[in-house]
Amino acid sequence: MKNTVVIGAQWGDEGKAKITDLLAEKADLVIRYQGGCNAGHTVVTGGQTYKFHLIPSGILYDNTTCFIGAGTVIHPESFEKEFNELKSQGVNFENLKISPLATITLPYHIEVDGWSESNSGKGKIGTTKRGIGPTYTDKMARIALKIQDLFSPEALSEKLDMILPVKNKTLEKVYGIEPYSKDCITALCEKYAELFKPYVAFDWQEILNAYKNKTILFEGAQGVMLDIDYGTYPFVTSSNPIGGGAATGSGYGPTMIQEVIGVTKAYVTRVGEGPFVTELKDEIGEKIQKIGHEFGVTTGRPRRCGWFDAVIMRYAVLVGGITNIALTKIDVFDTFDKINVCVAYKDTRDGKVYKSYPTDVFIHKYLEPVYETMEGWKQDITGIRRYEDLPENTKKYIKRVEELVGARIGILSVGPDREQTIFRV
Ligand code: IMP
Repeated sequence: MKNTVVIGAQWGDEGKAKITDLLAEKADLVIRYQGGCNAGHTVVTGGQTYKFHLIPSGILYDNTTCFIGAGTVIHPESFEKEFNELKSQGVNFENLKISPLATITLPYHIEVDGWSESNSGKGKIGTTKRGIGPTYTDKMARIALKIQDLFSPEALSEKLDMILPVKNKTLEKVYGIEPYSKDCITALCEKYAELFKPYVAFDWQEILNAYKNKTILFEGAQGVMLDIDYGTYPFVTSSNPIGGGAATGSGYGPTMIQEVIGVTKAYVTRVGEGPFVTELKDEIGEKIQKIGHEFGVTTGRPRRCGWFDAVIMRYAVLVGGITNIALTKIDVFDTFDKINVCVAYKDTRDGKVYKSYPTDVFIHKYLEPVYETMEGWKQDITGIRRYEDLPENTKKYIKRVEELVGARIGILSVGPDREQTIFRV
């Protein structure tokens, strides 16, 4: 296997965890490079269901080292909960490493996220309320704590003297949130240090050097359309889920990346607010939601559902650097007579047709999808393991999607299990 980045090509929840899990078996090192516990990745194997938020799913393999990179944000209490749940399922954490440069989500980040979601009216993003945005905001404002600060009382003390006067003023005056004393945060940090101590890779440079000639898998979270720079801004997350994010968030530069797999569903889903041109607010959308079990792993929220959108997928191939596509949940269409694929957008105001993705999302309310309709295959494909054995109409659908998006579909997923995967050679 080449050094591969796995990214979501839509608004997250595309089934990345299953693909990452399959590839992790062949990888020596798996690196999660952005996001935090806002992600929810489910892996089903050996009759067990494992739920991941921040810990790379590669942890299920004994010979794979898993690294939580510098580009991530870590909420210690959520990490502890995820860790304990996986531990109770028998997962072994001997190979887990955490970058000392990862950023810490503190209690006030969660409070600010909650406050913003409740008080911003129309500006509501529909976040996961995990403090992600406020943590990245502080990182960029240079007033965040890094994991390494937990292990240096001097650095911690100096940094808190820099951070807290500014932070507390904002917390009190803008958000009406009680200020945090230095003693309170210091006590919390002592607890966090104990929690992370066995896993912090102070020797991360040696580790990354040692794996330079081995196989590396970069695990993305969320999806291209939630990218802070290229997504449906401002209805996005606060990190870079695109393939390029792996270069900044992992500790390896871009020259280490050889392949980018873009994971996409055969339809589209989205949680939270924001534009979604192919959204179906009818019984077809409900049918997809029901058959596809489209409810969030992290928040339990029902996901909005719609037809496959080749406009956003072409865009994702470009800005995500996608070289290979993994098409998931194609079996959800097994009972469908007709399947729509959006090939362009049409502006209802002047009839203008968009084949490239219009990045001004505030005009999306005027856009309607231009569909091509394909025949369904009306057959259960969940037991098929070879591409040749797929029904002709499924192959036609796959071929048309490839033509429309300009990249090859190399992996097909026809069910949640590891075995329900077709690798095209
Ligand atoms: P945040 O990442 O919690 O700040 O949320 C920002 C936006 O990203 C919201 O629309 C969330 O619903 C969405 N989001 C964040 N993480 C995920 C994910 O793992 N899957 C799908 N959507 C996500």
